[in-house]
Amino acid sequence: MAHNPLAPEWLSSPADANTLDAALWPSSAQRSDTGAITIGGVSAPDLAARFGTPLYVIDETDARTRATELRAAFDTEFARIGTTVKVYYAAKAFLSTEVARWMVDAGLNIDVCSGGELAVALAAGVAPARIGFHGNNKSRTEIDEATRVGVGTIIIDSPIEIVRVAEAATRNGVVQNVRLRVNSGVHAHTHEFLATSHEDQKFGVVFEDAPALVAAIRAEPSLNFLGLHCHIGSQIFGVDGFAESASRLLSLHAELLAGGPVPELNLGGGFGIAYTSADDPSPITDLAAGLADIVSAECARRGIPLPVIAIEPGRVIIGPAGVTLYEVGTIKPVRIGENTRLYVSIDGGMSDNARPALYGAEFSVRLADRVTDAAPALVRIAGKHCESGDIVVDADYLPSDVAPGDLVMVPATGAYCWSLASNYNYLGRPAVVAVVDGEARVIVRGETIDDLLARDAGVYFDKLSTASTSSTNGTGATRSTDEMKETTR
Ligand SMILES: Cc1ncc(COP(=O)(O)O)c(C=O)c1O
Repeated sequence: MAHNPLAPEWLSSPADANTLDAALWPSSAQRSDTGAITIGGVSAPDLAARFGTPLYVIDETDARTRATELRAAFDTEFARIGTTVKVYYAAKAFLSTEVARWMVDAGLNIDVCSGGELAVALAAGVAPARIGFHGNNKSRTEIDEATRVGVGTIIIDSPIEIVRVAEAATRNGVVQNVRLRVNSGVHAHTHEFLATSHEDQKFGVVFEDAPALVAAIRAEPSLNFLGLHCHIGSQIFGVDGFAESASRLLSLHAELLAGGPVPELNLGGGFGIAYTSADDPSPITDLAAGLADIVSAECARRGIPLPVIAIEPGRVIIGPAGVTLYEVGTIKPVRIGENTRLYVSIDGGMSDNARPALYGAEFSVRLADRVTDAAPALVRIAGKHCESGDIVVDADYLPSDVAPGDLVMVPATGAYCWSLASNYNYLGRPAVVAVVDGEARVIVRGETIDDLLARDAGVYFDKLSTASTSSTNGTGATRSTDEMKETTR
């Protein structure tokens, strides 16, 4: 079929709009005999019938395997050069107590950046020593709580935090391990990176100020300096940006060795994933090997011992393991000159996936309840919110007979979708379901109308608890309490 000129250059019309590109989907994703997509052995229509839509679905085996394989790849490559690596799962990508436990089972630590994320990690039973605490404006309460429970490391993000963390550690009678986040001047995104001498951003401290700040940390008896931290960006496909940043950081690291021990170096997260067929991230084994080679070469060049390396990946572990399931509500062909784009509206939108509106992020989509021979049609998957920018998939092809009532799935939504979800237009945030071996279970329940009203001080709470039996799951339709059992269990 001819390329639709309304489609972006990178998107070609597929021979078959039913196929699932293995690079985008969880490893268990496949079509059943009926043509429905199954994830973890559970079919999309079954998921929709049991839990409603929209619904976040996570392939548990896929997430656990990605965590285990990433850890193994980095362990192997850094053992090869003669050091070790600590992997922190970046909780901001997606955090629930279940997922925190999967990560710990895979041997990962957890990186949190608020008191709320810390509370979830602790509720999951994560040992505090395995937790790193981030943030450019940690409150005094958060710092106090982190030192009190004994988090493994706090990443100091500004000069003022040195005193705040030192005081909290003293108050709680601990010596707190800390890292110092610096701006290396390197920004990376996908295949490009930008190296500047000065950073104009809120995170971290100015590179040139680091030696004096490390001296201030070392002067505090309640602080133990572990090393530098740097995070250069997200959705990075190759090692070049990391190489430039690691080189700059290791020059500073070498300078700091003159004043005392610097046992570790944290290179942050940011490893990219495929959201569409245009994305081609490096395999994690290549990134691990590339990073190990850079660290090894830079340390050898400077004649310094290899530090223990820390990394903080989030998206690359949980992103590809998750999909979002929606039901199609309306379909509108929009003719622009000779060409047509089908606007397919689903029962969620920017409240469950803010990334397109926030970053112009691209996603892809497939019909999830059936396969069909209908010719591919260019579609735009629109949400139900009162914003014209409420688009979930800007451009992809679906079979042209896509109809109201069909189910569609958007892959690669495991990271930064649920965690960025909102209640815009008073839609309840969808449930999160884990699927494995043909079984599905709720790991975070969906929000009900009661949840949405619960914080409104003008509502009579006693009346609410008896009178309200309805719920929203993004469709705007109400469902009875019985029907909601699966999601509220
Ligand atoms: C300090 C830090 N570490 C780790 C991450 C995780 O990044 P990603 O999920 O892209 O790997 C982020 C993301 O913003 C971050 O800011």
